[in-house]
Amino acid sequence: MELQIEHLYKTYRKKEALQNVSFTLHKGIYGLLGENGAGKSTLMRMMATVDFPTKGSIRYDGRDIFVMDEAYRSLIGYMPQEYNVYPSFTAKDFLEYMGVLKGMTGKKLKDRISEALAFVNLSDVADKRVKTFSGGMKRRIGIAQAIINEPEVLILDEPTAGLDPMERIRFSNIISDMGKDKIVLLSTHIVSDIEAIAGGLVVMKNGNVLETGNVDALVQKVKGQVWEAVVSWEVYHRLRKERSVIHLKQMGKEVQVRFVGEEYPNVKISQAEPTLEDYYIFAGGIIESEE
Ligand SMILES: Nc1ncnc2c1ncn2[C@@H]1O[C@H](COP(=O)(O)OP(=O)(O)O)[C@@H](O)[C@H]1O
Ligand SMILES: [Mg+2]
Repeated sequence: MELQIEHLYKTYRKKEALQNVSFTLHKGIYGLLGENGAGKSTLMRMMATVDFPTKGSIRYDGRDIFVMDEAYRSLIGYMPQEYNVYPSFTAKDFLEYMGVLKGMTGKKLKDRISEALAFVNLSDVADKRVKTFSGGMKRRIGIAQAIINEPEVLILDEPTAGLDPMERIRFSNIISDMGKDKIVLLSTHIVSDIEAIAGGLVVMKNGNVLETGNVDALVQKVKGQVWEAVVSWEVYHRLRKERSVIHLKQMGKEVQVRFVGEEYPNVKISQAEPTLEDYYIFAGGIIESEE
């Protein structure tokens, strides 16, 4: 199982949404990390053959996915960032509809609908209308439709957006189970969403791949360069101009901060254990949280 993206470009009128993107994925769970506008959805749409690249190639086990066409689409599952479930469908009807679109029929389809519903913990509400579902349940039915055909490649665009903390945990558990026999790629702009579940990372910014590697290797890159300090607001504002700073906590007239890079003169600092978030801000990413 190998999905290879080579020198991929996508230009919309004047906007270069992707510029020379290359990386290769094998079996496992990968995070596609980048701030809003980085090009994640554009890339995923092409990996799902929903859109075409301006230049470059995507190959699955050596074969061009746009030439494979139907044969490739039957191997993948895709959950777009924005998608509307037909609201008057029940969960089961929706999965049946999606299964038929993927060319599935009969007992095989029935069995897969039950399995997929069980997998995302929605068996109890199989006959309820999707419009009555919470945001988290809608995401889960989105995942169920993506896995209905037992795909070898699973592409999930911002699957954790809008999930509450409980749903996030449930989601992580669901995804962790799938990396053993599939290529799973999930995008996010929130580091903490993938830190624990992704083995590999593709970090994007402004249509480019900044870096690829496993989470530990990326974290190692900032080892010895992560610091914490309690500083005055004045120092804080100066520090922000010179370092990538994470604001941790307000402490009266002072602020507890964390920053990555060289030590900062005349400030009492202590070294901290690096995390993926530290690497990400160091690489120029913006730390965003779920609003
Ligand atoms: N259909 C489109 N037409 C024009 N520009 C687009 C289109 N889709 C995306 N873009 C632009 O391409 C860039 C990347 O967008 P997108 O892939 O959605 O990023 P992300 O998913 O990382 O937030 C953005 O600047 C966006 O405005
Ligand atoms: Mg997007």
